[in-house]
Amino acid sequence: MSTPTEEACEVLRADRAHLIHSLHNVSLHASAHVWTSGSGAVLVDQSGREFLDAIAGLWNVVVGHGRAELGEVAMRQMSQLAYASTYAGSSNPPAIQLAERLAELCYPSINRFFFSSGGAEANEAAIKTVRFYWRRRGYADKVKIIGRHWGYHGTTLAAMSATGMANYWPMFEPRAPGFLHIADPYPYRFERPESAANNNDERTVGQMAADLLEEAILREGADTVAAFIGEPVQGAAGVIVPPDDYWPRVREICDRHNVLIIADEVITAFGRTGDWFALGRWGIEPDIVTFAKAITSGYVPLGGIGVNDRIAEAIDTAEGEEAWMHAYTYSGHPVCCAVALANLDIIEREGLIERAAGLGRRLRAQLDTLAAHPHVGEVRSLGLMAAVELVADKTSRAEFPPEEKIGPRVHEATQRRGMFTRLRGDVYNFGPCFVTEERQIDRMVEILGESIEEVLGSP
Ligand SMILES: Cc1ncc(COP(=O)(O)O)c(C=O)c1O
Repeated sequence: MSTPTEEACEVLRADRAHLIHSLHNVSLHASAHVWTSGSGAVLVDQSGREFLDAIAGLWNVVVGHGRAELGEVAMRQMSQLAYASTYAGSSNPPAIQLAERLAELCYPSINRFFFSSGGAEANEAAIKTVRFYWRRRGYADKVKIIGRHWGYHGTTLAAMSATGMANYWPMFEPRAPGFLHIADPYPYRFERPESAANNNDERTVGQMAADLLEEAILREGADTVAAFIGEPVQGAAGVIVPPDDYWPRVREICDRHNVLIIADEVITAFGRTGDWFALGRWGIEPDIVTFAKAITSGYVPLGGIGVNDRIAEAIDTAEGEEAWMHAYTYSGHPVCCAVALANLDIIEREGLIERAAGLGRRLRAQLDTLAAHPHVGEVRSLGLMAAVELVADKTSRAEFPPEEKIGPRVHEATQRRGMFTRLRGDVYNFGPCFVTEERQIDRMVEILGESIEEVLGSP
């Protein structure tokens, strides 16, 4: 990489002196990029170098970087009405229109929406709302939330407690009480549970993984469990795509035991899997959906929850001490909602969901050409989210010792070739913008292939 200029070094010095970063880690920040502009699927850093953005910001910039149109919408809305609250007694047109629009796009049974500023706040709202719902129905003990290993739901206290990535916990213990985790439907690494020790057990991985939920509900007592929370496809964990029989069985189990489903669609909503929302492909609907990221393509912060009609009714009919006392100053922020509406217009006008599905097929076909490498354990994808898991031994699926830092070394090699993303350990993630050009998708795969060979040798 080129030697940074004096000015660039000064910016980085100021960064280190004053900015605390998300997941702050000084050693990981040693060769940080200061991004200064972007266009389509390309990010530019302060040295003027261009990088293919293989993860669309953080999975969110689906319409691509540099859409001046969204800035103009924000400016118009700011000039007219920059802020007004949506506390009871107040509303504003962009928030109303966005909620109405979402009711058309979302699952048929979900017609009411509350807005947050991001994904963790959305999950907080969902977790509180399932507790509220059961309390209103007379089941005040139904408070527990069952999540999954490797699930990621954000880092506020309840969202962190629902998150099943244990490295997020230790320095912030104790977690909120009432959260537990079961194994996720990770076909590549799923271990048959003890309950399936019997060799005559013919259940599939999807069925066994779903049945772990039923075992947990029965163990805890259904009268203490409020909800199951899960990402339709686990994103941060390294694009873990569940088998097709997983979610329908989860729905059946939850219905059987009066447990609600919170679908965390912070990554999957608004097209990432090739559909507006992800669970429809498996023929089920959640009780609450949480979203963020792609609703504004990251141009301004916005998230939220959609609740089904029976939960909406519980909220609507609550009075006095039973009222739904949940609120954010920035809920229904007029500028953010106006930008979201314009962003959804772009997605529709340019057919970006169909484009994401098509690009996803191309990305997958190209990634499959890497699968023959002796250290590519698995290539997996759904829609325009994909991952390549690198392993020490393909037969045993053994991971590399963490001290070998294979993932970071591959990441470093891809950056030298002009591509940027986020990894989970030795799992390389792709979640590019929906406007990425075909030749850019092909180049991304080429860069990863070359980088794997640089670090791990040629097949
Ligand atoms: C599935 C999922 N849920 C929740 C979050 C948290 O969202 P935020 O960072 O906006 O709080 C993320 C962030 O990546 C996510 O991927």
